[in-house]
Amino acid sequence: GFVAHGAEQSRDLIATLKKNNKNAVVFFGSQTGTAEDYATKLSKELHSKFGLRVLNADLADFDYDNLLDLDPDYLVFFVVATYGEGEPTDNAVEFFNWLDNDADQMANLKYTVFSLGNSTYEFFNAVGIKLNEKLESLGAESFAPYGQGDDGVGTMDEDFLAWKEQCFDSLKNNLNFEEKELVYEPSFELEELSSKSALDEGVSNGEPNKKYVEGTTDLSRGPFDHTHPYLAPISYTKELFKSSDRSCVHVEFDTSASNLKYTTGDHLAVWPSNPDEKVDAFIKCFALEAKRNAVFKLKSLDSTVHVPFPTPITYEAVIRHHMEISGPISRQALMSIASFAPNPEVKTKCVELGSDRAKFAQEIHSKFYNLADALLKISAGVPWSNVPFVFLIELIASLQPRYYSISSSASTEKSKIHITAVVEAEEKDGVLVTGVATNLLKNVEVAQNGKNDSLVCNYDLNGPSNKFSKFKLPVHVRRSTFKLPSNPSTPIILVGPGTGVAPMRGFIRERVNLLKKGEGVRLGKTLLFYGCRNNADYLYQDEWPVYSEALGETFEMEVALSREDPNKKVYVQDKIKARAKEIDSLIQDGAFIYVCGDASRMARDVQSTFAKILSEQRDISIEKATELVKSMKVQNRYQEDVW
Ligand code: FAD
Ligand code: 2AM
Repeated sequence: GFVAHGAEQSRDLIATLKKNNKNAVVFFGSQTGTAEDYATKLSKELHSKFGLRVLNADLADFDYDNLLDLDPDYLVFFVVATYGEGEPTDNAVEFFNWLDNDADQMANLKYTVFSLGNSTYEFFNAVGIKLNEKLESLGAESFAPYGQGDDGVGTMDEDFLAWKEQCFDSLKNNLNFEEKELVYEPSFELEELSSKSALDEGVSNGEPNKKYVEGTTDLSRGPFDHTHPYLAPISYTKELFKSSDRSCVHVEFDTSASNLKYTTGDHLAVWPSNPDEKVDAFIKCFALEAKRNAVFKLKSLDSTVHVPFPTPITYEAVIRHHMEISGPISRQALMSIASFAPNPEVKTKCVELGSDRAKFAQEIHSKFYNLADALLKISAGVPWSNVPFVFLIELIASLQPRYYSISSSASTEKSKIHITAVVEAEEKDGVLVTGVATNLLKNVEVAQNGKNDSLVCNYDLNGPSNKFSKFKLPVHVRRSTFKLPSNPSTPIILVGPGTGVAPMRGFIRERVNLLKKGEGVRLGKTLLFYGCRNNADYLYQDEWPVYSEALGETFEMEVALSREDPNKKVYVQDKIKARAKEIDSLIQDGAFIYVCGDASRMARDVQSTFAKILSEQRDISIEKATELVKSMKVQNRYQEDVW
């Protein structure tokens, strides 16, 4: 998260605990913010209910050797997510390296683990499971049962609640803690500023890059990362679908005025902001209209808790740029906000819904309500004017960047980054449920190309207090391991249905460029499998013949149209199967395989198709063939970029 300017942090865990009089730690390993959000809420609840004095800690912020000599009086909670191919999140990589290589006996460590994972991926909860086993094998003592959640079946919130209950039972029954009623204690003090003093201090307009506020640094120089994105101009946008009911936008960011660099196959993180409708609905729900442009400063009441965004700032800028206000709401959120209900009847209703899993699922979750929708529904339109703004800051997750597979090639687009984003807008039960980042991108496309389309959501692209200004968005690049083989004569098999074709486009442009400039370059085969519903969602349809022309017979493309024939679905794996013999010989020639797109079914089905092909062509058992594919993964010859 954002670290307040001037805050100095020691990496010494024991010193930090002592200095701040803490007796527990909640460590989080988080990529997209979910684990961090759970950890933060857990820390607060442990404090409020059990009087624990908790340090809520990013795993990247401390040295780990301290864990070896931690006093047994301390309780250590781990809330860790599994990412990609069973890997730890970026902020936990160092910790797991330490655990593998340098950790020693930890008989003094009292710990418990909650693990976040997704059962549609192969290595379900691998990181949490490994952590729990490793700590146990090093002699650490687990004071509460291991727990894990599944994002794949949408039960993460419920899984977390169930684990938390078990964990609290252990605290009470085994460690003799007494449970008190949950009372809200703010972690921050909010001070409203007169506009004069606000001006003196420099007011944030919501930019995630704190350097904008400090105003001292050259903003076009990196390194750019999740605390320092680059405010990139959007130089070109295009609608790629030919249908009127679905949309996919091609977006080009201009990086020429910066030193932002990428390599082909990397991801672009795009920092979105909330649309006018959602901001207005939120302001209405909490009766904040009069405060919309008021400026406040936030002071942390606990030296170990960071202020989550730069202040001074306006209420509106916080709501627009820093709060995830439109996503689904959790049962836990309803329970905790109930005490600020506008009247006792609403409070009762709120607690009723929050404590009944089935009722909540039926009346809130399945209706796709966000926080404001749900609260106004429960209160029958009466505004929730008693909710302290600091409570909302703590309750609502901070708005996170969204990642996109870069669809340009770093060798042909040196100062441009292309992405290919399918717009999330689906009507469910008569309500249009929309995604934040993709609708913002679609709005830019509509505005840039002077279209009259009714906007899916109305964004303030050019608002008075919006330094993002028209057609600029904060971005940073995240390095990926999805990379072409270093030898261009290596054959490649690319499988990218839907927007999964994005990085494949980058790879192919890279190879076209190699051929153009290199004398005597001998390119290996490029065999692309692409899939879409029909002609209407066929991405970059006019570009493929151009690449084919340039690459000659080294390029071949197979297209699976899944909804062309109403009686028969044709998927990429059907096209792959049809060329089994050739694929087997390409693999024997050292081909690399790349799969990008939907993680839940496609990537699995494709992987088992490759295993089946190897089994049949080489006359080996399916188990052996599956092992072969897995070993290709280990050797980086089978790479996945799936989400
Ligand atoms: P969000 O606001 O994040 O919403 C997510 C979903 O929840 C949407 O479907 C939305 O309609 C729904 N929703 C919103 N509100 C509610 C509610 N109240 N209740 C229930 N549901 C709700 N995507 C691409 O298009 N192209 C890519 O190349 C690409 N590459 C990726 C690479 C990686 C490594 C990763 C991790 C993801 C990638 N994605 C890609 C996905 C992308 O990051 C985003 O998740 C996606 O674009 C949706 O973002 P959004 O902000 O529009 O939706
Ligand atoms: P469908 O939506 O008609 O089922 C891009 O989303 C393409 O991937 C679509 O044509 C979609 O088909 C297809 N698709 C859906 N599930 C798939 C799977 N399990 N394997 C491969 N392709 C799939």
